[in-house]
Amino acid sequence: MPTVSEVLNSMDYGPSPESPAAVQDWLSAHDGFGHFINGRFTKPADTFASINPASGVDLAQVSLGDAGDIDTAVKAARKAAKGWAALSGHARARHLYALARLLQKRERLFAVLDSMDNGKPIRESRDIDVPLAVRHFYHHAGWAELLADEFPGHRPHGVCGQIIPWNFPLLMLAWKVAPALAAGNTVVLKPAEQTPLTALLFAELCIEAGLPAGVLNIVTGDGTTGAALVDHPDVDKIAFTGSTDVGRRIRNATAGSGKALTLELGGKSPFIVFDDADLDAAVEGVVDAIWFNQGEVCCAGSRILVQESVAEHFTARLKTRMSKLRVGDPLDKSTDIGAIVDQVQLARIQGIVAQAVEEGAVLHQAPSPNGPGSFCAPGLLTGLGAANIAMSEEIFGPIVSLMTFRTPSEAVELANNTRYGLAASIWSETITTALDIAASVKAGVVWINGTNMFDANAPFGGMRESGFGREGAREGMAAYLTRDLAGKPRKPVGALSANPGVVTGVGTGDGIDRTRKLYIGGAQKRPDGGASYTAQGAQVPLGNRKDIRNAVEAANKAAGWSAVTGHNRAQVLYFLAENLNARAAEFAALVGKAEVNLSIQRAFYWAAWADKFDGRVHSTQSAHVTLAMKEPFGVMGIVAPEEAPLLGFLSALLPALAMGNRVVAVASQSNPVPALDLVQVLETSDIPGGVVNIVTGPRTELTDTLAKHDGVAALWVFGDTDTCTMAERLSAGNLKPVWAEPVLRDWAGADGQSRDFLRRAVQVKTVWVPYGA
Ligand code: NAI
Repeated sequence: MPTVSEVLNSMDYGPSPESPAAVQDWLSAHDGFGHFINGRFTKPADTFASINPASGVDLAQVSLGDAGDIDTAVKAARKAAKGWAALSGHARARHLYALARLLQKRERLFAVLDSMDNGKPIRESRDIDVPLAVRHFYHHAGWAELLADEFPGHRPHGVCGQIIPWNFPLLMLAWKVAPALAAGNTVVLKPAEQTPLTALLFAELCIEAGLPAGVLNIVTGDGTTGAALVDHPDVDKIAFTGSTDVGRRIRNATAGSGKALTLELGGKSPFIVFDDADLDAAVEGVVDAIWFNQGEVCCAGSRILVQESVAEHFTARLKTRMSKLRVGDPLDKSTDIGAIVDQVQLARIQGIVAQAVEEGAVLHQAPSPNGPGSFCAPGLLTGLGAANIAMSEEIFGPIVSLMTFRTPSEAVELANNTRYGLAASIWSETITTALDIAASVKAGVVWINGTNMFDANAPFGGMRESGFGREGAREGMAAYLTRDLAGKPRKPVGALSANPGVVTGVGTGDGIDRTRKLYIGGAQKRPDGGASYTAQGAQVPLGNRKDIRNAVEAANKAAGWSAVTGHNRAQVLYFLAENLNARAAEFAALVGKAEVNLSIQRAFYWAAWADKFDGRVHSTQSAHVTLAMKEPFGVMGIVAPEEAPLLGFLSALLPALAMGNRVVAVASQSNPVPALDLVQVLETSDIPGGVVNIVTGPRTELTDTLAKHDGVAALWVFGDTDTCTMAERLSAGNLKPVWAEPVLRDWAGADGQSRDFLRRAVQVKTVWVPYGA
């Protein structure tokens, strides 16, 4: 027995293991696991092992689901869908409360099982994963209760296919299942092949709670099982969390299927430390940012950017702190870092780190424990260039990269120098600095003087290649609801016949040349190809890919529009309405009086919204203000409808502008003149050059270029099915969200000014601001 002074000198902990006995009893009561379909477990078949990564020992045999299993599960979900959606919100709420209560009662069992299956420290599964999962069920029981009041006119999608990763097995189940069920959807869930066990334990809870058969179905398996779920024709929505590569594949596979889609993908999130930060707190922040859950966290602060003047001091403290972290048995209550989920992931981490070192980085790392488990000691990479692999690739392990910066603008530039946009942490005691950087970083979630905070009432999700859609809070509920449009399918427009010989000129006067021009960067421009086509008897410009690219460049430069106040934008849009009114007779000659009058009214309507589509302050943790701010995407592409060539064009364009986007709009192909003649109205309305760009010509080619363009952050397509499908598929490059609508919209009615236009013109940035004197 060591003396007290020996203990104080070494500060060693004794072992403090959590007992695996209850989990072992549960596992040995099962002779392998089947799928959970229609309220029952199927017979185990075609099984594979779920392994404890800390020991390498098999925990259980689970079934590898194939397309047939998925089909059976989808059929069960479909059968249950009508009854579940028809229940009152209150009745669904009671089911969700029952699940929350039962989960709460079994917290310890779930925590130990999650730790054994995944390798995460019991301290984290016990204190973070499981309580948050419980919180999600309670929170969403509340949404079920309030649904009819808060989302009038909405209905559930129907059957949701949900695919989750291995890093938070139970928590990701809760994030996905709770809102889906609250909204009245039924679910087929596919857990990750590495960590299926807590989902199967949860299935038993569903039986105990009396959840109606078929409402939640769980099919275990690997990527092929997931792909079968994505491809199943009777699934209405896919919700996926996982790697960006698989997210891209799912975007491709669902294009044109009519399935709704939300993607929560990878990240390379910056952790920015200013010289006026509380450095001790920031060092602890790094522990929570990258050494939480072995760094297997999509929003991990994996790129430390530290201000040069404090870099040496900060790095020294960080190394000291890192050396004190305890790596080892996940079930030991004093373990900080458990096991990596499997040997494949361990090898992946080691591979990237080795390459980073080869490319010049210096690795500081304690030795990893020996043994059969897949352990990786925490590490810090310094001396990296911006091009080093460890600055761009998601390592998904406990290894953080560190770089320095000199000025706040350099910090923002480095922070945004990534294809991802999931999260950011900002450390500064100066509130103006912290909020300024929060506004400038491209990230769906920003933590000020904190990191990795989550709550069921805080929207979570990414920008750019980190995916689209939000989970949690009101914003997350919206992703599981939809509204019906009664319209018939849109017809294809058909090919154009170009007039290659006709060079477009200026419409100077009668009989000379009335060919109109494109509108790019605030000026009328000849199309790149110099050709025109005839539409409704008029000569109109035949735009091409180059014109779209020029328009995107012009829109990109017009960033000032996104920064002005809503009041400013409203003034400009009111002025536009006024100028349209002044030219009403001219436009009436083109589209008739009724469409012009409605267009004027619509311009006033969207102008009114410019300063009113507010963000929210969400109630989350104490001593925090959690802001959900609505930000414009930046550059948007809009392929306007063929029908209602003036009203449809303006109804789509103006809400995007009102929310602060700059737009490249493709006008109606068969009747582009009303849109082209808007140029005079735009020019007299103080709309800065580049904020609106209008291109006319072959819709398919122009949509193709917009969809592929990495400089376009979001795309709306009001076109026929083939054009919509193509747009969705080609958007997989930068994973821009696409609103593709292949059915006719009643532009003259309420659908012409639905709230969806506003919702789809913004992305939510959640900013956590702590307080405390
Ligand atoms: P993954 O993206 O392949 O797996 C996530 C889920 O998708 C699993 O349930 C898997 O079975 C399923 N899946 C795989 N291929 C599919 C397909 N074609 N269609 C439908 N579902 C499919 O991630 P993986 O391979 O486990 O990890 C690789 C890397 O991905 C990690 O090193 C990490 O960088 C990243 N990752 C990111 C996550 C995040 O939360 N952002 C979570 C897990 C991994």
